[in-house]
Amino acid sequence: MVVAQVGREKAIITRAGGELAAFSNICPHAAADLRKGRLARGQIKCHEHGYTFDVRSGRATWPEGEGCRLLRFEVRVQDGQIMLRPAWEPRAGA
Ligand code: FES
Repeated sequence: MVVAQVGREKAIITRAGGELAAFSNICPHAAADLRKGRLARGQIKCHEHGYTFDVRSGRATWPEGEGCRLLRFEVRVQDGQIMLRPAWEPRAGA
């Protein structure tokens, strides 16, 4: 995984299922830094409480029924460069 600065946000960029996926480094459960997490088979596991998230959909895959989601970035490749745009409303002051 690669980390990029996007405005005031940090994005984790990875490949999943042959496609690029990007999401905020802030865990939606309790704000741990997902850069310390473990990425495997299209899922990121947070080091803090063990929640896991599908990096393509953002949905929590563990614990079952958990409603929090990763903040994802829209990813576009243009002229060999990866372009990212938050897929959520920016926070106040961001
Ligand atoms: S802060 Fe990430 S699982 Fe709790």
